[in-house]
Amino acid sequence: MRKNIVAGNWKMNTTVNEGVKLVSEIIEKSKDLSNVKLIVAPPFTHIFSVGEKLKGTDIGLSSQNCASEAKGAYTGEVSAEMLANIGVEYAIIGHSERREYYKECSETLLKKVKLALANGIAPIFCVGENLTEREENRHFDVVKQQIEEVVFNIDENDFEKIIIAYEPVWAIGTGKTATSEQAQEIHAHIRKVLSNKFAEKAENTSILYGGSCKPSNAKEIFAQPDVDGGLIGGAALNADDFIAIAKSF
Ligand code: PGA
Repeated sequence: MRKNIVAGNWKMNTTVNEGVKLVSEIIEKSKDLSNVKLIVAPPFTHIFSVGEKLKGTDIGLSSQNCASEAKGAYTGEVSAEMLANIGVEYAIIGHSERREYYKECSETLLKKVKLALANGIAPIFCVGENLTEREENRHFDVVKQQIEEVVFNIDENDFEKIIIAYEPVWAIGTGKTATSEQAQEIHAHIRKVLSNKFAEKAENTSILYGGSCKPSNAKEIFAQPDVDGGLIGGAALNADDFIAIAKSF
C-alpha cells in the first residue's frame, strides 16, 4: 500500500524563530491526523532546530536540496551525510526552481539522489513540464525523460524509498492549478513509466502533486486514484492551511 503524504516546502522563507513557531503550530494542529504522513522541509539554517521540535512526533524532516558531491572543497554546499547526521529523513531533489535557476541537470540530480540514498535519506524527486512544453503537448515525454534519466539509474532495492513529486512549472506559485483530470492523467502516466522499469513495485510509489495546491482544491486533486498527496509551497507557510490540506484525504 502506498502512503498518503503531504510535504511542506518552505523554500527561502521564515527566520529560525518563525520556522520553529510554524512547526510547533503544525505539531499542535496535526494531533488527530492518522491517514497521512506529514513532512516539513525548512531552509538549511532551521533544520536542526525544527528537528529538535519534531522529536517524538511522526512528522518527517526534509531538506530542500543536498550537495551532488560527498565531501570536500565545495564552498557553500551541504552534504547528504551532514543532513543525515542531524536527523534529516527526506530531501527534495530536482525542484523546478533548482533546475531553472541553478541549472541542475539530470546528471547532477542523479548524483544527489544516489548520495541521499547512500546516507539513508529518501529523495522526493521532482518532475514537471513548463508552459511551452504543455502547450506543445510534450508534457508526457518531458516527465518520462526526467524519470528515465534519474530514477531508472538507481538500484532496484532503493527504488521503494523514492517519492515522486509531479509539479507543472506553470502551476508553481502562480495560483493556477492543474485540473484534477490533468493531474490524474499525468500521475497515471508517471506510474506507467516507472512500471516499465520497476514492474509492480511502481504501485507502491507515492506520487505527489505540487503547484498552487491549497485547502480549496486539495480534496478534488487528492481524490484521484494516482495522486497520493501533495508537495505544498505557499500554503505550507500557514499551519491552518497546511493542516487543512492534509485533512483533505
Ligand atoms: P506552490 O509551490 O504551492 O507555492 O505553488 C509548490 C512547490 O514549488 O513545491
